Amino acid sequence: MSTTSFGNGGDPGFDSFNNAASSISTAAIVSIVVSVIATIAIVIAIIYCLKRTGDAIPKYAQAQLTIGGNNSNNQGNINPLQAYETDMAKATMERFISDIAREQPTRFSANELTQCTQNFQKVLGSGGFGVVYKGEFPNGIQVAVKVLKENVSKRVEEQFMAEVSTMCRTYHINLVRLYGFCFDTSMRALVYEYMEQGSLDDLLFQKQNNKGNQSIIPWDKLQEIAIGTARGISYLHEECQKRIIHYDIKPGNVLLDPKLSPKVADFGLAMLCNRDSTHVVMSGCRGTPGYAAPELWTPYPVTYKCDVYSFGMLLFEIVGRRRNHVAELSGTSQEWLPRWAYERFEKGELNEMLAVVGVTAEEDKVTAERMVKVALWCVQYLPNTRPMMSSVVRMLEGGVKIDEPPNPFAHLQDDFGFDLNTMSSSTKSDSRLLQSENSQSEIHVPITI
Ligand SMILES: Nc1ncnc2c1ncn2[C@@H]1O[C@H](COP(=O)(O)OP(=O)(O)OP(=O)(O)O)[C@@H](O)[C@H]1O
Ligand SMILES: [Mg+2]
Repeated sequence: MSTTSFGNGGDPGFDSFNNAASSISTAAIVSIVVSVIATIAIVIAIIYCLKRTGDAIPKYAQAQLTIGGNNSNNQGNINPLQAYETDMAKATMERFISDIAREQPTRFSANELTQCTQNFQKVLGSGGFGVVYKGEFPNGIQVAVKVLKENVSKRVEEQFMAEVSTMCRTYHINLVRLYGFCFDTSMRALVYEYMEQGSLDDLLFQKQNNKGNQSIIPWDKLQEIAIGTARGISYLHEECQKRIIHYDIKPGNVLLDPKLSPKVADFGLAMLCNRDSTHVVMSGCRGTPGYAAPELWTPYPVTYKCDVYSFGMLLFEIVGRRRNHVAELSGTSQEWLPRWAYERFEKGELNEMLAVVGVTAEEDKVTAERMVKVALWCVQYLPNTRPMMSSVVRMLEGGVKIDEPPNPFAHLQDDFGFDLNTMSSSTKSDSRLLQSENSQSEIHVPITI
């Protein structure tokens, strides 16, 4: 009698069917697991990439894109003009953030700058190139808008944009960042990062005069400001793809952040030149009297060493916490600080000068003496004798021995045909070089942009 079996009953056909079915289901499970893992991996990769993209946008540009801030609850009350302006501001902001991420300068219209400065309401100051206004973008980024004078903006658009692009791509912790520009028929302007604590000039001189708080700047902070400024200039001279000569180093062009860290402002405003070309013959005068190197006032070639000279002058002012030339001290050895410092240094009596300018703590005297020596090297009459800025940084940091500086004013006794005395009491003979305590008259060549 035959029996019916529900098992595989030893049927080889059924066995192989069963085996095939189980290997198919294993394959299916494996492929499901693989695809789940792959999907998770892809999702993680996408999240990672998005995060990287986000990180590429600097912190200051990551603020929320809320136009009008608290207005979001009042959307229903916005009139068509407000809505249009809001849209425009939002578009400007998005373009600005994307340009920054791509390291491109943002081009602003005159209208956009009018909005961000609230119709150029708050003046931060003015100088040889134009007036500087405070502005703020809708996401809270504060900016300084320098509206260039009519006569300084004759350059054609392409040249202007090429130079501005270079300036925008020049970043260093000790350089003021340029965000963008405006090149409209009605306006040429540069948009900079806003520096909350104003200029070193204010810190050293104005505040001292008006509020008497000069003594609150600790000496080590002043030393840090000197080193940071030197690093910024060294970057412009030695590390940029194209060497940038500043031509106007002075305390007014050293701006300070909330921690009083220094950033050099206005680099690139003057002529840009290739690093290979070490000489630029200039047809006019440039810079600020009292800081400009002697060769800037002669028809001879000018090199990047003119910035080293100006930095030396700035260094004397930091040590002295006073302007180099003080008319009220006329007729005394203290009238022109650099020469007074050299006279004391030469006689081994620098301490006497340091005591007069308020450097009394023993450890401060050591750094102050070092700064005076570096300053004396920087203001050497012959440009080749002045050090490179990278050496200046090392000397200020104290890592290297500083040789005795030669007399930078020896030529004043010789007949070099150029009288540096014009920087002190006998300025009457050449009013271009006079820098009085209260009036900082400036002479600029017709500017390049
Ligand atoms: N980025 C900035 N952030 C904050 N304040 C600024 C900024 N740029 C300039 N200022 C302010 O505006 C003032 C004028 O600056 P401006 O560069 O026009 O003149 P200057 O530095 O005195 O002379 P120069 O034209 O030779 O550079 C500065 O002293 C400073 O107080
Ligand atoms: Mg300036």
